[in-house]
Amino acid sequence: MENTNQQQVAIVTGGGSGIGLAIAEKFTQNKIHTVIVGRDEKKLEKAKKQLGEYCYPMICDISNLACIPAFIEKVISKFGQIDTLVNNAGINMKKEFIEVTDEEFQRVITTNLCSVFAISREVVKHMLKRGSGSIIHISSMAAQYGLPKVIAYSASKTAIDGMTRAMAVELSPKGIRVNAIAPGFIETDMTAKALNEDPERKQKVFGRTPMGYMGKPRDIGEAALFLASDAARYITGVVLPVDGGNSVGF
Ligand code: NAI
Repeated sequence: MENTNQQQVAIVTGGGSGIGLAIAEKFTQNKIHTVIVGRDEKKLEKAKKQLGEYCYPMICDISNLACIPAFIEKVISKFGQIDTLVNNAGINMKKEFIEVTDEEFQRVITTNLCSVFAISREVVKHMLKRGSGSIIHISSMAAQYGLPKVIAYSASKTAIDGMTRAMAVELSPKGIRVNAIAPGFIETDMTAKALNEDPERKQKVFGRTPMGYMGKPRDIGEAALFLASDAARYITGVVLPVDGGNSVGF
């Protein structure tokens, strides 16, 4: 078992790139032992090089739900505890409503929703034994208002907001806080692809973002570090927009 010296242990799914990498960076800078979870060994090793000694890459395809209990047991046997879980890994699919097949819809729901449930359930079993923990889901503006051509993504992220509230009321009396962050438009590969292929949407995004520019992954990292920390000890059940005002923009 790793010697964590009573320090904090976190899991960040999809921690090898984009927002997850920025969250893992904030955590490791603050001496939180951080397991980054992904499918691509090379990408995770590159992230480990960048983040240093507090970063621990571990391979798991979270859409393979049957593997999740054994994966969480592996983390527990290595570290002994999990203080913070960030459910960040996610996929998007942009397609006309009537073109989306059942398989495609299910694929997005499995990665963005079912895996978040399954990982949280397994982690919560351990958090309950210690009577403490913080869970942070990564939601989206797609759960705040209607976005065309992302039907499965919108359904998954809206369900995440509901799950945040339901988990918070059931688990907070037992010492586990559950919150979500709703990023606005943040500069990552995912958004670059989605917006560059659709100039009209890009213009719309900026038109309703009062701060007038896209956020950086580290803006989400800062919010996650806050929600994971004792500074947020009385905060549970919230979906926190970090969006330059996009969710309230006219
Ligand atoms: P990204 O594509 O850079 O990162 C997603 C990460 O999740 C990747 O490292 C990917 O390998 C991993 N992942 C995907 N499927 C996986 C699986 N089955 N098993 C293990 N890992 C898997 O995207 P980005 O932008 O960093 O997104 C992170 C989260 O933030 C997602 O949940 C996304 O929906 C959310 N988000 C992003 C926004 C943005 O503007 N970039 C806006 C709102 C929400």
